[in-house]
Amino acid sequence: MEFTGTQLIPARRAAVWAALNDPAVLQQCIPGCERFEATAPGEWTAVVMAAVGPVKARFTGSVKLDDIQPLAGYRLAGQGQGGVAGFGKLQARVRLRDEAGDTRLDYTAQAQVGGKLAQIGSRLVTGAARKIADQFFSSFNALLSGGGAGSFAPATATAVHAGDSGLAAVKLTVNGRPVQRQVEARLLLVDFLRKDLGLTGTHVGCDTTQCGACTVHLDGVAVKSCTLLAAQASGGVVTTIEGLAPEGGLHPLQQAFHRCHALQCGFCTPGMIMAADGLLRSGCTIDDASIARGLEGNLCRCTGYVHIIEAVKQAARAMGVPTAEGAAP
Ligand code: FES
Ligand code: FES
Repeated sequence: MEFTGTQLIPARRAAVWAALNDPAVLQQCIPGCERFEATAPGEWTAVVMAAVGPVKARFTGSVKLDDIQPLAGYRLAGQGQGGVAGFGKLQARVRLRDEAGDTRLDYTAQAQVGGKLAQIGSRLVTGAARKIADQFFSSFNALLSGGGAGSFAPATATAVHAGDSGLAAVKLTVNGRPVQRQVEARLLLVDFLRKDLGLTGTHVGCDTTQCGACTVHLDGVAVKSCTLLAAQASGGVVTTIEGLAPEGGLHPLQQAFHRCHALQCGFCTPGMIMAADGLLRSGCTIDDASIARGLEGNLCRCTGYVHIIEAVKQAARAMGVPTAEGAAP
């Protein structure tokens, strides 16, 4: 069966493109998605609980992108096995274009099902697929327009226009200081911060949007700086871990991470703290579940998460952010 759809997404194309390549964003938006992890650039594994008519099952599968045209679209092929429920396969072509400051996303998809799923009829299966797509885009749009927990979209991110020289102009405010440079149009924001500006507190763990070590704030929103080009961020206000607290002081999150022993090697810590700060400023009530959601795009390989969660709760209380437990005595 084949279906098509179109969505007007209230965000610039670069932000939509970055979100469509971010496994944490995709996990958050796919209804019933329990796990969505990158295994290689453009390749993910996923576990999704889905109900199609009377058939309800947990599907485990993989998704692979090809014909990737940065900022313009990709082709996606996915397949999932749901045990006795059967299997599903999906091929989709996603295209992006600018539309009056927003982004128009068009997709065409072909789905194939087998096993029990094939017995319940194509009408029910198509209806379920449309409902999943509607729920996905409703969450995706809310996230990109700043309405969801862990909101994603940098308002300033724009398409890059490189000159004949392959260079692009970058004009940013970084940690309160104006910065202007001509850089290679392909230069990632994280490399610009580390190599051009010497702000090495922002780390590179994976370079493929998986670990969150490179998280910074762009226009107040936590973003993975390996996901954006420096030129896409031009015009924006960037805060890195070096600029989070006034010079010589520590931010309440830094104090809490220190007090709670929420780090060992410290490699993940700058990204963890920048993501946690985005969460604490998002307006949601802080509890185990909201912290898990807010930090799901940040990986720690040595400390474990118990102390990190405790540190975020302590910082929330110190900053007067509502917590499930209420204010500190
Ligand atoms: S997510 Fe950016 S370096 Fe890992
Ligand atoms: S403290 Fe070592 S990776 Fe998190």
